[in-house]
Amino acid sequence: MTVASSAAQAFRDAYGAEPTGLWAAPGRVNLIGEHTDYNDGFVLPFALPQHVVAAASPAEGPDWTVCSTFAEGSVSFGATEPGGVEGWAGYVAGVVWALQEAGFEVPPARIAFASDVPVGAGVSSSAALESAALTALVELGGLELPVADRPALAQRAENVYVGAPTGIMDQSASIRCTEGRALFLDCRSLEVEQIPFDLAAAGLAILIINSNAPHQHVDGEYGARRKSCEEAARILGVPALRDVDPAGLDAALARLGDDVTRRRVRHIVTENQRVLDTVELLRAGRIREIGPLMTASHASMRDDFEITVAQVDVAVEAALAAGAYGARMTGGGFGGCVLALIDADRADETTAAVERAYAEHDFTAPATWPAVPGPGAARLS
Ligand code: GLA
Repeated sequence: MTVASSAAQAFRDAYGAEPTGLWAAPGRVNLIGEHTDYNDGFVLPFALPQHVVAAASPAEGPDWTVCSTFAEGSVSFGATEPGGVEGWAGYVAGVVWALQEAGFEVPPARIAFASDVPVGAGVSSSAALESAALTALVELGGLELPVADRPALAQRAENVYVGAPTGIMDQSASIRCTEGRALFLDCRSLEVEQIPFDLAAAGLAILIINSNAPHQHVDGEYGARRKSCEEAARILGVPALRDVDPAGLDAALARLGDDVTRRRVRHIVTENQRVLDTVELLRAGRIREIGPLMTASHASMRDDFEITVAQVDVAVEAALAAGAYGARMTGGGFGGCVLALIDADRADETTAAVERAYAEHDFTAPATWPAVPGPGAARLS
């Protein structure tokens, strides 16, 4: 059964009627540009084919009722304040709250969700849920909310309602990505460029390796990184670390008092440049050559930003030793997935090499699958 038919079936089972429509929003991986989003910098995510599907219909007001295939029972709520609904339904209540706070009259609705986006793997299952709910509610209510303005509302749901201090990348990816492309996003201007990313035509593949070390940003490490970046920008007298010119990096670092802050800043400034360099190569159709940038990004996350864990480092090393052109962790860190850029016919060998390395370290075997850039949020039917 597809995710869409599961969502429709869950809707029928819970509400005894056919849904008015089905809306999907994908998970994402980030090709390069980690922790740069909340520094007003650059990111380059692409959407996964895995998605959350919302089967939805308008309802008699004043409430919203939501259920899903991934949790028991249904949850009903009216207008709430941040934190008012907890658990998975809080992401949906947060979207309703953010829309209302922005002045929209949100249509009361009944929604059933289904998903095949892995949870806890760092591929943005929560942003996919927010984006599916947002897209369904906006379209059900005929709300005049341009696509380019939607990610910021979904991000507000996550930041203020759910209370996770994330940047705007994940919701932007889920809402604005297009099939076969990577999304080059300037997180300051919110301008995007859809960068062709036809791996198959180049005989290449991106293998996703789920390290199985569950990632956590709520545990304070993510917030701590964000705080040091903001503090460094304040000391350097710039609006955000995006404004530190790589050519002036050494001089900027010399003005910072402690070594940890210097390394955090070095990661952000060099990572922004790696995104720009990656985009240049992709525009020129030189996909294979982005490998060393990916690997340099990983080293920077491991040594300077200190957000990797043993499982992801081992996966990166093993993939590179098996001949990958480049490999790096993707997402917020402390676990999650690794991306390896490989020849399309080397997926099995690469997987076997990572499995052997994991066995040697007594790590739980990783799941791997090829990443194909899928479409962003849209109505399915
Ligand atoms: C998480 C956050 C994003 C971004 C990444 C790191 O996925 O939700 O906003 O900061 O981490 O690049």
